[in-house]
Amino acid sequence: MLFLVVSSICLVKLAAALNNGVGRLPKMGYDTWNAFACNYDQEKVLSQAEAMVKHGLVEAGYNSIILDDCFTLRNRSTDGKLIEDPKKWPNGLKSFTSEIKKFGISASAYSDAGYRTCAGYPGSYGHEEQDLQTWTEWGFDYLKYDNCYIPFDNVTDENIYGRYQRMSDAIASHASQTQSEPFWLSLCEWGWQQPWLWGKQLGHSWRINGDIEPWWSAIASIINQASFLSWGSGYYGHNDMDMLEIGNTGQGTPVGNLTYDEAKSHFTAWALLKSPLIIGTDLTNATRETIEILGNRDLIRINQDPNIGEAVSPFRWGINPDYVSNATHPAQYWTGNSSYGVLFMVLNPFDQPANMFFNLTESWAIRAGRIYHVYDMWSHTNNGTALRNISLTLPAHGVAALLLNDAGPEPELTGTGLPYCAIYWQCSWPNGTYFSN
Ligand code: GAL
Repeated sequence: MLFLVVSSICLVKLAAALNNGVGRLPKMGYDTWNAFACNYDQEKVLSQAEAMVKHGLVEAGYNSIILDDCFTLRNRSTDGKLIEDPKKWPNGLKSFTSEIKKFGISASAYSDAGYRTCAGYPGSYGHEEQDLQTWTEWGFDYLKYDNCYIPFDNVTDENIYGRYQRMSDAIASHASQTQSEPFWLSLCEWGWQQPWLWGKQLGHSWRINGDIEPWWSAIASIINQASFLSWGSGYYGHNDMDMLEIGNTGQGTPVGNLTYDEAKSHFTAWALLKSPLIIGTDLTNATRETIEILGNRDLIRINQDPNIGEAVSPFRWGINPDYVSNATHPAQYWTGNSSYGVLFMVLNPFDQPANMFFNLTESWAIRAGRIYHVYDMWSHTNNGTALRNISLTLPAHGVAALLLNDAGPEPELTGTGLPYCAIYWQCSWPNGTYFSN
């Protein structure tokens, strides 16, 4: 009996997200790594901050900058402290973080739950509290926490969970000792060991995949991965699909290495799946198209929905049978709910334009027997009402992002040729005979 009581308490704990007052909604911001790797300094990052302000991205919600790998020196001081790199930060990191705060942008640190960061800089294993203290002095309030240079098992005496828990616990005790808000913790373990099952106990987001690359096959493969995990995202804990590769990647079209349609699909999936929205491209020469996509207020509003935290999920895979994993042809038909209406995301994974079709009632969030106003979250226009179904033609690798709102009961059906049920499997007359179309 005692065993039963104890195990049910554990189950409750397993299901609970870390609600420590921060990290309720997906993080929005900028990360230095994908655009600059280790080659950045105060001047370069400040020009990103200026570009974010100039293009309205801060106003749109991108209000943090993560200094990724390489912002300290390669070795700690004799008393174990992290040392800021004086070449990168000639006026000191404290001065840098104050500078970006004037733009409405907060500063985020990066470290590692092992001996070293992935680029070989000091990791925080065994230095958790000391480093939190240092980052606080430097003006950071968020931590991206990587997974390289892992100590032996007999050093950690715990698996990946234990290494991340050390930092999570240190954050809690640092916050209570300093009477300040806890650091927001973002786990960067590349989807190892199913972080969607345990990450929410320790931090506010966890990576579900390895590093993104700025081409379509990488985007499609992450969407495929996410299609099986959309249940994992919710308030205080989010599947992190990695950075947004929309913008100057040093090559290609006005939106980087992706086509315009691919970049729209990329942004739609990240926003509606409630991934953190972290820009990973150089914004200094951002084009109109890049800003249009990154700044899509309709999609950001859903990503940051204050009342509904769940992600969209597929209701029909399309070319593949349901629940079949296909890295080049992920699920095509997705739905979910939001404070602003019922969401549909329709994705064309093919290399040529495709006709797409779905019945409204395939979505659990739609009420049968009603018609719906259709709002297009890319053209930002009302596109009339939908009765029963929607057909679309989408360009290669293109997307539709639709928001549907109730427009009243269906018109009288007699004479319309429409069946009584849109999906008439099990559809029945009151006398118990099945309706057949
Ligand atoms: C990787 C991580 C990247 C970046 C890089 C820095 O492990 O996934 O996003 O942080 O390390 O070395």
